[in-house]
Amino acid sequence: MKPRTAHQSLTINTEVVLPNDTNHVGNLFGGKLLQWVDITAAIAAQRHCGRVVVTAAINHVSFDNPIKQNSVVTLEAKVSRAFTSSMEVYVDVWVENPVTGEKTKCNEAILTFVAIDQNGAPLPVPQLIAETDEEKKRFESALRRRQLSLILGGRMKPEEATELKALFVVD
Ligand SMILES: CC(C)(COP(=O)(O)OP(=O)(O)OC[C@H]1O[C@@H](n2cnc3c(N)ncnc32)[C@H](O)[C@@H]1OP(=O)(O)O)[C@@H](O)C(=O)NCCC(=O)NCCS
Repeated sequence: MKPRTAHQSLTINTEVVLPNDTNHVGNLFGGKLLQWVDITAAIAAQRHCGRVVVTAAINHVSFDNPIKQNSVVTLEAKVSRAFTSSMEVYVDVWVENPVTGEKTKCNEAILTFVAIDQNGAPLPVPQLIAETDEEKKRFESALRRRQLSLILGGRMKPEEATELKALFVVD
């Protein structure tokens, strides 16, 4: 399978926060944001591998700033690393000032998707080529996040997580 660049998976989704999307204090409801994040990231993963994908894990979501009703929200997703059948996807969430057009980063999410066949069995995916400095940084750190996710999911023993352990070893 021919490796593909991160940019080839770029998926951009723009939404407006409508009254039905808000919580009890008038800001975007976190569950609604997660829905947008999951769909945008899934499309990025599908663009990378050309297969049907399922969400295997939501590895990290940060809600750094509240997003007010009527805000224009842009979600940008790209595959950050591909393994055998799984792909890590990063989603950057921006809020746009409707008057000035200025964009502020509000959230970040990291998810893992797996390519599957018609029986739900995992399928191999192309490797990822990281080009920009940010893509390279995310590519490098993806192995640690994968090990942490597998430990939390009960799929890896902590002592097997060599990449993760290296973070905590002091010379
Ligand atoms: C994800 C799923 C396809 C994995 O199937 P499986 O039979 O366990 O397959 P495997 O053990 O071979 O794992 C497949 C890949 O998923 C990865 N994976 C599974 N769980 C993971 C987790 N919690 N975090 C990170 N990666 C995970 C494995 O590391 C493996 O990656 P690799 O092939 O790149 O090495 C299966 O668990 C599934 O269908 N889950 C439900 C998905 C779903 O319905 N999502 C919608 C939201 S509810």
